[in-house]
Amino acid sequence: MCGIVGYVGHRPAAEILLEGLRRLEYRGYDSAGVAIQDVQGISIRKKAGRVSELAGLLAEQPCAGSLGIGHTRWATHGPATDVNSHPHVGGNGEVVVVHNGVIENYSTLRDQLQAIGYVFHSATDTEVVAHLVAHHLEEQIRLGKDPQDQQTALDAIELALRKLKGTYGLGILFRDFPDLLIAARLGSPLVVGVGKGEYFLASDASPLVGHTDEVVYLSDHEMVVLTAQGMSLKHRETGARAPSIQTLEQTSQDTDLNGFEHYMLKEIFEQPQTIENAMRGRFEEEEATSRFGGLNLTVQQLRRVDRIVLTACGTSWHAGLVGEYLIEEFARIPVEVEYASELRYRNPPLSENTMVFAITQSGETADTLAALRECQRKGHPTLAICNVVGSTIAREADGGIYLHAGPEVGVASTKAFTSQVTVLTLLALHLGRLRHMSHPAGKRIINNLQAMPEMVRQALKCHDAVKDIAKKYQGISDCLYMGRQFNFPVALEGALKLKEISYIHAEGYPAAEMKHGPIALIDEHTPSIFIVPKGAMYHKVMSNLEEVKARRGPIIAVACEGDKKLEALADDVIYVPEVEDFLQPLVTTIPLQLFAYHMALLRGCNVDRPRNLAKSVTVE
Ligand code: M6R
Repeated sequence: MCGIVGYVGHRPAAEILLEGLRRLEYRGYDSAGVAIQDVQGISIRKKAGRVSELAGLLAEQPCAGSLGIGHTRWATHGPATDVNSHPHVGGNGEVVVVHNGVIENYSTLRDQLQAIGYVFHSATDTEVVAHLVAHHLEEQIRLGKDPQDQQTALDAIELALRKLKGTYGLGILFRDFPDLLIAARLGSPLVVGVGKGEYFLASDASPLVGHTDEVVYLSDHEMVVLTAQGMSLKHRETGARAPSIQTLEQTSQDTDLNGFEHYMLKEIFEQPQTIENAMRGRFEEEEATSRFGGLNLTVQQLRRVDRIVLTACGTSWHAGLVGEYLIEEFARIPVEVEYASELRYRNPPLSENTMVFAITQSGETADTLAALRECQRKGHPTLAICNVVGSTIAREADGGIYLHAGPEVGVASTKAFTSQVTVLTLLALHLGRLRHMSHPAGKRIINNLQAMPEMVRQALKCHDAVKDIAKKYQGISDCLYMGRQFNFPVALEGALKLKEISYIHAEGYPAAEMKHGPIALIDEHTPSIFIVPKGAMYHKVMSNLEEVKARRGPIIAVACEGDKKLEALADDVIYVPEVEDFLQPLVTTIPLQLFAYHMALLRGCNVDRPRNLAKSVTVE
């Protein structure tokens, strides 16, 4: 959460920072601000609300200068007000800071700083950092360090950072060092873009696209000093390191709306292509299996695996649940799906041959990263199923599989889910073929997978029908989602989509569990969405559906094309193509994404920027 940008070079900083913030707005949109350094000193413009509000302010009160930092906020400490917006000023204006992360010991530090005379204006944890750096700067100078020497400023930062507990990605300016832009990282991502006579700083690579494709990722405990002339990198313990420059593959078209009204809708409609991308080059048809370039484990190691832990948050956790069914079915390896936020503090007994997969679109989710590190510490091979190339989790995992879904901008995850499910199907196939799965069974899975982009294209044809159904239900305040086996995680995912973007209370259940409690919620105002495609569970789910109908609950059914029986039973039916049971989540999730999208639109909600949320949750 929160996005940071920075620029130092020869061009006016304001527009570059603003454009960078627009691209990072998915990380938080409670407020936005910039600090720009010029000959007169540091000018700050900040405002509660979207980046567009800040743009308006900058149009009224422009800032000149070719060096600056910017921030878009997802509020953690203190409400979304102008005064709590970043940047924050330390001392008497000597230091200016933007921050992504959480300073856990901020209140102790604030008390100490207040006791020695520092005056706080905001309710944020970040202001502590600004004052702490200013305090150490003043102390260094008092101890006789040269106030003109930039090393004095760097020492002040280092001393301050050693006192912080928590996580930070920081961008720092000093009033009296007008050429310097300094950044430091612990737990919150930062990347430097290397231009010609200019450098860019950002929380992820999206603001760099179009400016440079040469990037340097910062690691934890690293600090980078940027001037228009160059960069220097230093790790707190190991000292200076030569920057290792990597090439960025993203293009600016990847983040265009391409004629769609919202990113979410665009990303829903991209799914035939993104599912294809997740499979591209990964089949070994002769051997009836799949292959991955980056698992970094030998066949022997993979054969020895006796347990798999899939860990993730939110939608990625739902994909993990589908993965559990797939891997247990195809490879007969016991799988557990753990919320990363729980796993990081648990200590489950894991055998020596347990393999851990972190599933994450962004590769930056704080809990998922912490769970991965915890498992790594205990010596387990950790792998990532990740979308964002070069993200922290992708870099820290021992190996992994990329989704190749392209940037997902909408806060509600859509195409990442279906790509994750596709990759997990390939993984289950791979593991199955290393064990007992026959060649014909492997071949059948491949054939079915290869047909999926077309099946999803057909599933998308339900768009108009879903739009009409949403009109009918737009006034509801509760909604239940029910599915069984492979469609139970889809029910959870459908409910999450509706909750997060339309603010309607929704719950997903395994359909048969309903009669153990949730059935009490059924009345004529509470619709139930049943995911009931043809397959092994069809008749079972139909019985559960009848139970709801008997209690006069409105029913929306997601069913296979041509299922006339459901037309008679359900109030509304949405059709998807018939596919094998294990691939059903790829088609049944489509109408649920569209339903959430249209419900949100009809209720006047901001589809791509739902309240209280951010795209990547980089705080605990
Ligand atoms: O980037 P990640 O996949 O690690 O993100 C995990 C969740 O924060 C994410 O899936 C979240 O639940 C989405 N907003 C759901 O649409």
